[in-house]
Amino acid sequence: MPVAVPLHEIRAEFTELDDPNDRMTYLVEIGQTLPLLDPHLKTEASRVLGCQSMVWLVAEERPGDPPTLDFTADSDAPMVRGLIAILLAAYSGRTPQEILAFPIEELFQTLQLKQFITPMRSNGLYSMVQRVQTLAKLAVGQQSAEKLAVGSLSLMPFKVRPREESGNGHPRRSPPALPATIVTGQPAAASPIDVEAIRRDFPILATTLDDGWPLVYLDNAASTQRPRQVIDAVVEAYEHYYSNVHRGGHHLAAESTVRYEAAREAVRALINARSTTEIIFTPGTTAGINLVARSWGDANLKAGDEIVLTLMEHHSNIVPWQQVAERTGCSIRWTPITADYQLDLDAFQKLLSPRTKLVAVTAVSNVLGTINPLDRIIPQAHAAGAVVLVDAAQASPHEPLDVRAWDADFVAFSGHKMLGPSGVGVLYGREKLLDTMPPFLGGGSMIKQVTTEGFTPADLPYKFEAGTPVIVPAIGLGKAIGYLQQIGMQSVRAHELVLTRLAHSLLADIKGLKILGPAPELKGGMVTFAIEGIHPDDISKVLDVQGVAVRAGHHCAMPLHKHLGLSASTRASFYFYNTPEEVARLAAALRDAVRILGRT
Ligand SMILES: Cc1ncc(COP(=O)(O)O)c(C=O)c1O
Repeated sequence: MPVAVPLHEIRAEFTELDDPNDRMTYLVEIGQTLPLLDPHLKTEASRVLGCQSMVWLVAEERPGDPPTLDFTADSDAPMVRGLIAILLAAYSGRTPQEILAFPIEELFQTLQLKQFITPMRSNGLYSMVQRVQTLAKLAVGQQSAEKLAVGSLSLMPFKVRPREESGNGHPRRSPPALPATIVTGQPAAASPIDVEAIRRDFPILATTLDDGWPLVYLDNAASTQRPRQVIDAVVEAYEHYYSNVHRGGHHLAAESTVRYEAAREAVRALINARSTTEIIFTPGTTAGINLVARSWGDANLKAGDEIVLTLMEHHSNIVPWQQVAERTGCSIRWTPITADYQLDLDAFQKLLSPRTKLVAVTAVSNVLGTINPLDRIIPQAHAAGAVVLVDAAQASPHEPLDVRAWDADFVAFSGHKMLGPSGVGVLYGREKLLDTMPPFLGGGSMIKQVTTEGFTPADLPYKFEAGTPVIVPAIGLGKAIGYLQQIGMQSVRAHELVLTRLAHSLLADIKGLKILGPAPELKGGMVTFAIEGIHPDDISKVLDVQGVAVRAGHHCAMPLHKHLGLSASTRASFYFYNTPEEVARLAAALRDAVRILGRT
């Protein structure tokens, strides 16, 4: 069986192409030359696990002296089909012994594959190699089919498709000279923010990739960047007054403590809490939710009780409750989502009952962007007698937040998503509840007294801050909050709305692209989408080559993706320092991705 593209040709092409974009285009092109895999061979037994996309690989033994093996394989991801073409060129038509001796690592190095495929893709590639080697071992009888659990070698009809000419046109080898003003097709953006001035505060935003593409950072929902002011505050702390807090009598300890507590006051003011006793510094949203689950959950939940979650929660607001359910025997009920990406409030109302002890809900979905109507959800939950925890990880960075207006019992968010250092987050808790809760972690700082018989916990909030706290990150967060307040949270929201509207209008006519989420007015500053027939991983890789940083994957929201009938999606998320030109760059890069990766 002749391979689709011979190995020497692949080697020669790769040597010639030094632009990663061109390599990707070529990879997709050779993927298009693969023989078709008969649908009946796409079985669980022929699936290669460990690949993010679907991959099936089977072998055919060709009689001869000695006998050789032909492989064929297929995938739903065009780039993976390209990788398969390389593997087929390397392995097909060889004897099992030659296959096992083939220097595949050397080949990958020559082609510099790892430089432009993602680590996940790389793992998948090695899973395919392992499958090929396993089948070779099976053929020489080194191992039994049962032991290898791969099914027996099967003869199959190969259908060879003639090699297609690339319909993709000539790939671009270097970044295009961007016009001074990118035509966005939109009227002048009505943003209250002077973005160009603000961007000068963010050193990292001036980054240009080695091959000349300017960085377009659109992964803000995962983590934002930091302005010089926050970076300087962190450096200043370490250079001038760093010490442990609350413990020493010396002047550095006093200074550190004052600054740390000033940060707590900055958080209190930002979210309009009644008192700093209600502000607990944590390592992040996940840690805050776990604190509530361990402390409040273990003390208050039992078999027969119910926790109401929603299908659009981040895993951080799912798994801790599943763990509580395992420990206490309580159960979880799920609020569904409507076809227009909103919580189904009628269904939510029906889920509430005297059994409902807790409602845990995200303020803003990290995938859909949906802004949930807490002004309806929280009163309804309270009326049923439930405590409410709000996951505000995607809300606190982007909109004014008022825990008293929400009337929430617990609110958790992360510093790194709002210009602060990573490693610090906040748990707000209603004092009345925090007072009744046992400490979660035990150790230094969280006690008033320790004797051989036991301990007396410290007052709030220190009862929940065991050990040396996140001192400098908290101080950095305080500075970040000051920066945000200078801009104004209303202005942040207004600017992001301008960008989101623009993104919706520019992405709307990209072939096969479906936006996952409601209209811009109903959501936070992000646009998440799926493009028919193209894997999000591949999209993000093409975008990355052009300097556009987005996130591809399940975004820690697997139940939501399952509900959407997807395993992954691509998310571009904005912040107040992004520009309309960057949104246009996103749209242009996406058009390139469709051109490069589309099968047609
Ligand atoms: C809605 C939501 N909740 C929770 C988290 C977890 O935040 P962290 O990783 O900072 O704990 C995230 C992070 O992406 C999020 O978007």
